Amino acid sequence: MTDKNQTVSMDKIFSLAKRRGFAYPGSEIYGGLAGTWDYGPLGVELKNNIKKAFWESMVYDRDDVVGLDAAILMNPKVWEASGHVAAFSDPLVECKICNERLRADQQDEIKKHEDSHTGKKVEWTEPKKFNLLVEAKLGVVEDAKQKVYLRGEITQGVHVNFKNVLDSTRAKIPFGIAQIGKAFRNEITPGNFTFRSREFEQMELQYYIKPEEQESKKWYEYWKNERFKWYQSLGIKKSKLRLRQHEEGERAHYAKDAWDIEYDSPFGWKEFEGIHHRGDWDLKQHQKYSGVDLTYFDQEEGKHYLPWIIETSGGIDRAALFFLTDAYSEEKDRVVLKLHPKLAPYKTAVFPLLANKPELVKKAKTVYQDLKSKLAVPIAWDDRGNIGKRYFAQDEAGTPCCITVDFETLENDTVTIRDRDTSKQKRVKITELEKSVKT
Ligand code: GAP
Repeated sequence: MTDKNQTVSMDKIFSLAKRRGFAYPGSEIYGGLAGTWDYGPLGVELKNNIKKAFWESMVYDRDDVVGLDAAILMNPKVWEASGHVAAFSDPLVECKICNERLRADQQDEIKKHEDSHTGKKVEWTEPKKFNLLVEAKLGVVEDAKQKVYLRGEITQGVHVNFKNVLDSTRAKIPFGIAQIGKAFRNEITPGNFTFRSREFEQMELQYYIKPEEQESKKWYEYWKNERFKWYQSLGIKKSKLRLRQHEEGERAHYAKDAWDIEYDSPFGWKEFEGIHHRGDWDLKQHQKYSGVDLTYFDQEEGKHYLPWIIETSGGIDRAALFFLTDAYSEEKDRVVLKLHPKLAPYKTAVFPLLANKPELVKKAKTVYQDLKSKLAVPIAWDDRGNIGKRYFAQDEAGTPCCITVDFETLENDTVTIRDRDTSKQKRVKITELEKSVKT
């Protein structure tokens, strides 16, 4: 038996994800494409709910953050300026026996590979830098197509619009720009389901502050704390989370300091989200390469400066995976996803007790339609099989409660509500259903 505190195997998560329609291997009928995933009917809701929770807490609940949605394709000079063309790389080594390529800094993978050549001594080539940017070509004339990059981080779209946002809003430092969107990386070893993919989504905040040590310390601590609390607010226990500072040599080229919020996953403590002190790296580089003045005029201090940036950068796919893993629980004969109601793909499900009794079906349909239009959230309908099977299907989908219309409903307009986590049922008046469903 697995309860919510025990470690669940990735095979179980993968099989549940496929079985219930959370995620499938990308382009599966053509044999797949490594490092890509397609989200099914439940997966897209889970991801949308993560994004919604992020946007609510980072933009709507605050007065100092605005949103942005920049293009994926950018002028390639952006990536030269940001340092990604020169320095966005991982160390690649090649096995001299079978030529498989792995990341030199991933000791577990290296060991697994060496073990696979039983009895042979594995030699590796010297590590060489492998750039992770994904290239594409744009244009209609074959020989004159322009090489562009699919963005390796969503970040640069924000920094190149720093001045636009300043000029078109009343933003004053300190303030932030939040963004959600796709990023692409030519990962050497994609793996662990969606954890390391070649196409994935990020949710970020770029927070612009005065270029002062004290100020940056204050805001760095503040954002580490805020983001740590955010994962807890969506149901992850504090004991399954930790903050870890990057060691010297581990930091990305743009970072003065870097901390990861890590999760105690089935494959060890792994990065959920990175919190980075980017200093003035991005604005300084874009100012230099574009020739455009990107300084901020601080009216109170009467001077121009390049602000420093504190960044919070999380992955939606990674978050979806860890929220699923964390919620997974096996109890007696059922699998239950104890997802936080905010994240649950369906907020409730409505059933007629028996599908062959038209009066029950008719009443249940009315309850279903009514609730859908009043709550404006996804609600499931199920009239297949027996009631026990329907409950189990909704438990696996993470639906927090199920509503059943039975014969008593026809007499007194009450229904049963069954709680996902306890399996307990209670009777509720139809007029009070709205209050009983957590969204
Ligand atoms: N703008 C900073 C930045 O991109 P990062 O630490 O490279 O920083 C931030 O990435 C987050 O993006 C990670 O914490 C992770 O959640 C997600 N991420 C990065 N690479 C990923 C990959 N290959 N597959 C899935 N998610 C990834």
